[in-house]
Amino acid sequence: MNKIAVVGTGYVGLVTGTCFAETGNHVTCIDIDENKVNKMKNGEVPIYEPNLDTFFDRNIAAGRLKFTTSLEEGIKDAEIIFLALPTPPGEDGSADLSYILGVAEELGKLITEFKVIVDKSTVPVGTAEKVEEAIKKNTELEFAVVSNPEFLREGFAVSDFMKPERVVLGTTNDRAKDIMRKLYKPFVRQGNPIYFMDEKSAELTKYAANSFLATKITFMNEVANFCELVGADIDQVRAGIGSDSRIGKRFLFPGIGYGGSCFPKDVQALVKSGKEVGYSFEILNSVIKINKNQKTIMYPKIKNYFKGSLEDKKMAIWGLSFKPDTDDIREAPALYLIQKLLDGGAKVCAYDPEAMGNVKGVLGDTIEYAESEYKVLEGCDALLICTEWGIFRNPDFDLMKKTMKELVIFDGRNLFDLDEMNNKGFYYSSIGRKLID
Ligand SMILES: NC(=O)c1ccc[n+]([C@@H]2O[C@H](COP(=O)([O-])OP(=O)(O)OC[C@H]3O[C@@H](n4cnc5c(N)ncnc54)[C@H](O)[C@@H]3O)[C@@H](O)[C@H]2O)c1
Repeated sequence: MNKIAVVGTGYVGLVTGTCFAETGNHVTCIDIDENKVNKMKNGEVPIYEPNLDTFFDRNIAAGRLKFTTSLEEGIKDAEIIFLALPTPPGEDGSADLSYILGVAEELGKLITEFKVIVDKSTVPVGTAEKVEEAIKKNTELEFAVVSNPEFLREGFAVSDFMKPERVVLGTTNDRAKDIMRKLYKPFVRQGNPIYFMDEKSAELTKYAANSFLATKITFMNEVANFCELVGADIDQVRAGIGSDSRIGKRFLFPGIGYGGSCFPKDVQALVKSGKEVGYSFEILNSVIKINKNQKTIMYPKIKNYFKGSLEDKKMAIWGLSFKPDTDDIREAPALYLIQKLLDGGAKVCAYDPEAMGNVKGVLGDTIEYAESEYKVLEGCDALLICTEWGIFRNPDFDLMKKTMKELVIFDGRNLFDLDEMNNKGFYYSSIGRKLID
């Protein structure tokens, strides 16, 4: 059993804290957001993440999971302190380290014995050194800084955390190595590796992984755009290349661009880190540019269909979150498309199983929100699919036909079969495939 503190109780911090409690550790989660901490103290999970609630309830009941707004109280007994703080993009695209370094300085004032301080946030190469310096400003006690990037995916965060494909630990401190190896042992029982490496390599591993995946998605989006111009079908091309084990089947689905809190900011931050040492990541510069364009790639098609004017057209949206099974809307393609539609004079009504609350916080009543995937279709001139939630995959087409004013679908996620759409009489425009009209 370890005593652990997790500073920052967002998507990563709460999952980290809850999963460590689930393996018998005593965890205190610290957050400056009083509202969030009060919710958690009252037994409420403040984010939507499948299966988190079961672990959350069980570990609170067992007294292994606690919450506080006080850094001092939260870290008092902890031997291991995780930093799961935001690293949003600064104005120049670089990762803003003020949250991490601010907390590190505070920790220097508060620690009274040896602590392992683990950076779980995604941070640029060299941050572990900066964290060490920030802590040292205020203490002469011994401590170790470990870089432990997190690879969980929102929507699968609990299972990803409990059974990670690998754990990356950047540290050259032997005492910290032992502590971290024991802490992670229950999570790698099936034999998945723990990679120990130096801090800088661990920090870069995370950026390289996210930038690679963003590039893979972007490459497929470009191939899909090309398919439309030459009459090829991206689904067939995808199957053809995905069966090559050097390429692999995953991350080959074309769509309306990647969003979320990680890929956009991490790709940008790696480009910025490159610039700082005189290196230009040409491939990533292109990825950023292409992805920006891809988020609104459906807009000209929609406008074209309506002969140049969207004035008073009612657009129904399926899906607002940046991907299914999360309420996270950070950098979600749907929001970019909605803005274009509103600027173009359209009326927008949206439905999402989990993300409508967050979107209301940003867009307020500039758009309407519907109670269900069918209600949103009432009187609509077109349906636009932005997120591939499971419930959208096999809908009641007959009910849709009765409800929609016009049988027009722009599908940014390629959910439906072209022949079926043809047989059912829909106008169906998707990504990298034949137009059904
Ligand atoms: N979300 C993901 O899928 C994911 C996956 C891997 C890595 N990451 C990385 O993990 C880090 C955290 O991401 P997230 O999505 O969990 O962020 P988040 O915004 O959901 O959570 C951050 C939390 O930190 C709190 N906080 C801010 N300042 C604080 C302070 N001084 N003291 C205590 N709490 C404070 C905020 O109130 C918030 O609850 C980022 O670096 C991100 O890039 C995220």
